Amino acid sequence: MPKPKVFVSRKIFPEYLDLISRKANMELWEDELPPSRSILLKKSKGVDGILCLLTDAIDAEFMDAAGPQLKVVSQIAVGYNNIDVPEATRRNIAVGYTPDVLTNTTADFTFALLMAGARKIAAGYKFVQEGKWETWHPLHFLGQDVYGATLGIVGMGRIGFEMARRATGFNMNIIYYDVNRRTDLEQQIPMKYVDFDTLLKESDFVSLHTNLTPETNHLMSDAQFRKMKPTAVLVNASRGPVVDHAALYRALKNETIWAAALDVTEPEPIPSNDPLLTLDNCLIVPHIASASVATRREMSRLAAQNLINGLEGKELLTCVNPEVYHN
Ligand code: DGY
Repeated sequence: MPKPKVFVSRKIFPEYLDLISRKANMELWEDELPPSRSILLKKSKGVDGILCLLTDAIDAEFMDAAGPQLKVVSQIAVGYNNIDVPEATRRNIAVGYTPDVLTNTTADFTFALLMAGARKIAAGYKFVQEGKWETWHPLHFLGQDVYGATLGIVGMGRIGFEMARRATGFNMNIIYYDVNRRTDLEQQIPMKYVDFDTLLKESDFVSLHTNLTPETNHLMSDAQFRKMKPTAVLVNASRGPVVDHAALYRALKNETIWAAALDVTEPEPIPSNDPLLTLDNCLIVPHIASASVATRREMSRLAAQNLINGLEGKELLTCVNPEVYHN
């Protein structure tokens, strides 16, 4: 029997590419940059499965171009806002993702962003790099204290909860908002459920951990920044469009809020002429919260195994739409 055909839209850890190629006739996109839309559609024609990234739009047009034999879409990310899941379900295509394996690494990094934003670490380094450091100064690079401050977590999912766990080590007062109150998690860590407005008003740090949905698109805009403290720091390691960047620029420039630290932007990559890049109180890094060696290896393993399971007609280890097995 011929091997199934798959397209892998970027290099992952080589041992998992080997695993896939033992099971399938694999075409790998080897460039550093994503395939263009037309190349993605062309390369996916006739495939039984695809291992894709958040930069690939997997929608009805893609599924039509791939053809009716497409069985599995395996995303190497926990977020899957680039995939039309209802459409995949309708066509009985299993969608895999990589939850859990990246939770701690992402929470570690988000806490690092929070601290870097609070204590001007990037601006301080730039100052030293540019040869501007002349003396110790009592009033240079004054930041905001993290220890004992109030952390407002928006979205109490896996990563939000791990962020809360880290905050307990800094004796932070933790408040959170989610569409669902998580009394189960409140048993494990002292934290208080509040409404969104209260969270904005009371937090010294607002950390975003929500999925990107039509409801959370531009969740943070002018009205929300106006409710925050002028000393507050916004941290975003969720998805770029959760924050309205034009409004964020106004809020940082006019000192409505004190600083922002972003792992994600809208669009990605952020254009080099984006006004946010002119501000010293806005730290931006290139969507790397899950980027540790061990975590990216685990994400590669899970995405590869999901792809193979899908090809072999087995349940995916981590499936976004398990209802396809009961259709
Ligand atoms: C995800 O997994 O959704 C991240 O944004 C990348 O690790």
